[in-house]
Amino acid sequence: MRVIVDGKPTEMVAVWHEAGKIHFIDQRKLPDKLEIYSASGYAEIAFAIREMVVRGAPAIGCAAAYGMALAMVQKEDLGKAEQVLRATRPTANDLFYAINWMVEMGPGLGPMEAAEKYTEDIVAKCRRIGEEGARFIKDGDSILTHCNAGALATVDIGTALAPIRIARDQGKKVFVYVDETRPWLQGSRLTAWELTNESIPHAIIADNAAGHFLKNDVDSVIVGADRIAANGDFANKIGTYEKAVVAKENGVPFYVAAPISTFDFSIGNGSGIKIEERKEEEVVSFREVRVAGKGERARNPVFDVTPSRYVTSIITEEGTFSPGEIGQLARKGR
Ligand code: MRU
Repeated sequence: MRVIVDGKPTEMVAVWHEAGKIHFIDQRKLPDKLEIYSASGYAEIAFAIREMVVRGAPAIGCAAAYGMALAMVQKEDLGKAEQVLRATRPTANDLFYAINWMVEMGPGLGPMEAAEKYTEDIVAKCRRIGEEGARFIKDGDSILTHCNAGALATVDIGTALAPIRIARDQGKKVFVYVDETRPWLQGSRLTAWELTNESIPHAIIADNAAGHFLKNDVDSVIVGADRIAANGDFANKIGTYEKAVVAKENGVPFYVAAPISTFDFSIGNGSGIKIEERKEEEVVSFREVRVAGKGERARNPVFDVTPSRYVTSIITEEGTFSPGEIGQLARKGR
């Protein structure tokens, strides 16, 4: 991804391995500061996932793959490393997919080589998602996105932002409505930062303004996903469900962009997806400044499940599928 460092465009990825350590763009600090968090063991990687130094389903999968690689190289108790990494966040399927992949492939390929391959493959899949998804974007379109499903969430390129980046590269004019995405502000802090770095025109909108723009201005919605059930129901950042309902009400196509590693074919429908609930402080405070009265309680589910009837299609590295066609992927033996 293009990042502006000291006024100069620089190519960076969100997660990388160098000299035995794993480095992350610290997403807690953006957009104010570009800081790097470096981990030298799996426990520090587990911390980074739990505390959202690194976030977004494919990126936390890559982080977990590197965590397993460090545990293997450092001859740690692998059962314990697996258990600690699996316990970091429950919703994103990629986390579990990546750990399973490392257990299978790490010993044969070599631990660090395997984690690097896993990460390079994710980025390559994102590029294919971008090329596939760009066909659904017309010159002059306005697109709404929720949360951050960009390069920060996938190491590079993104899922929902990939078709937007590729459409722009193809010379199409695009405008992006960026939901701010309370309470963690993945939209206003991260997606807007990525789009600014890429000079892609956009506007941040309050989450509760999305209905207004879906009724009047938006040509399509593209979001990422954390876990997709076998019938196409999917979990994504809290607030996705209501955007999908309002999009359908207004005849706006609603696309989900995700790699196959996000699909969980063992779950028949969305009711089987575990939803993470995080700290109340994220809701009663705004960037660590308390806005609710002292002693107020809050609820903070950080994902919701959108039923597949609201999904126009799911864009993957293997093509585009309607929810009813997902069975084809499952039958390929995944
Ligand atoms: O809590 P987060 O920030 O990890 O949630 C991320 C999302 O919900 C993203 O939309 C999803 O992981 C897709 S990222 C390509």
